[in-house]
Amino acid sequence: MKPNTQRSEQLFREAKRHIAGGVNSPSRSFDAVNRPYPIVMARGQGAYLWDVDGNHYIDYLCAYGALLLGHAHPRIVQAVQEAMARGSVYGCLTELEIELARRLKEHIPFVDMFRFNVSGTEAVMTAIRVARGYTGRNKIVKFAGAYHGHSDPVLVEAGSGSSTLGIDDSLGIPPGVKQDLITIPFNNFETLAEAAATHGEEIAAFLVEPVVGNFGIVPPKPGFLEKISELAEKVGALVIWDEVITAFRFRRGSVEPFFGCTPDLVTLGKLIGGGLPIGAYGGRAEVMQVIAPLGGVYQDGTLAGNPLSMTAGLAFLDSLDDEIYERTARFAMILADGIEEAGRRHGIAVRVGRYGGALSPYFTDQEVTDFEGCEASSSEQFARFFGHMIDQGICLAPSKYEAWFVSAAHTEDDIAYTLEAIDKAFARMARGE
Ligand SMILES: Cc1ncc(COP(=O)(O)O)c(C=O)c1O
Repeated sequence: MKPNTQRSEQLFREAKRHIAGGVNSPSRSFDAVNRPYPIVMARGQGAYLWDVDGNHYIDYLCAYGALLLGHAHPRIVQAVQEAMARGSVYGCLTELEIELARRLKEHIPFVDMFRFNVSGTEAVMTAIRVARGYTGRNKIVKFAGAYHGHSDPVLVEAGSGSSTLGIDDSLGIPPGVKQDLITIPFNNFETLAEAAATHGEEIAAFLVEPVVGNFGIVPPKPGFLEKISELAEKVGALVIWDEVITAFRFRRGSVEPFFGCTPDLVTLGKLIGGGLPIGAYGGRAEVMQVIAPLGGVYQDGTLAGNPLSMTAGLAFLDSLDDEIYERTARFAMILADGIEEAGRRHGIAVRVGRYGGALSPYFTDQEVTDFEGCEASSSEQFARFFGHMIDQGICLAPSKYEAWFVSAAHTEDDIAYTLEAIDKAFARMARGE
């Protein structure tokens, strides 16, 4: 039986009168899953969300990966309430910024210096500027379908929300910006080598998500990240790892220890703000010294390093333990296996991408290793699956390009309920519903 979502429907009608498209981020639209209105949420606690009609959801969206500890974690709530009472922004240096940068460096030892801003978009946009300022070069090599926020240089052949809506190339980006971007397929060694050979000394940086989280979850092929680093070193370019999703999602810190190479710059966001707005980029002192007031690369921000985001970030770090990573990975594995088993049981072609506590089902019989593979998976099957899941109280991102995130708040019972819901969803799909 479909839940009553009448109030969501009414509110969305109202939203469309005041907010362009009714949503402040197009990824929140339900257009791609053929639903006329999104569910309007009212409250989150732990692993759960409640909508404005009072329906309850197990949440695997986790704010597009911004949450690892679940909603309204008591430690973060208390710390932020106390900080709020001391004032939310001063426009002056605070001890909190120093402390968060110091603590992040403990977990990401290849970084000497950080800079905070308020979104992952800003972090990547500025890291690109730093790489260009440092190398004196313009070209950026990036990977098709990768999403790195919505600044001009990374919205060409971008993924995630822009792919969901079929806008891989945003309008409004001048040709001059495009001419400095080289977009090649992820996990393809030949085109990578070709890009380095052809553009060599014009390349400022190779920009990559070390584990892709924006056309589902796609780990790098063995040696791929190492090859990027090797070629970058050869041509004198920097390597930027966009870890807005991956840092602190799979371990306490960067994913760097899982691979045999180290980036020059890393961008962070989402998780490190404990659910409040944040972005950060960091790298070796020698590179970071190009940033004003030390050097000539400019980056500013009224709310950059604001006390509330810093406080939430510190409370987030204080609440981590290694067991969280072991458990979220175990639960994600159970879900991934459950999805593939249910697919076999009901004759639905489905493959699951997974890394640690993150996963993504693709409705295809082929393993997905790049954006093309994700593109080729069935959007229509995904839309049906999504509808059957949300009707059973499972909140997922409304797009085949987005990942599911297991949080520290999910329980064995949540996983068991989700597996039952998957089975029922596939049974309905097998009946053509
Ligand atoms: C890998 C990656 N980089 C950058 C961003 C942009 O972050 P924000 O939405 O905070 O601007 C995102 C957002 O989804 C992301 O997934």
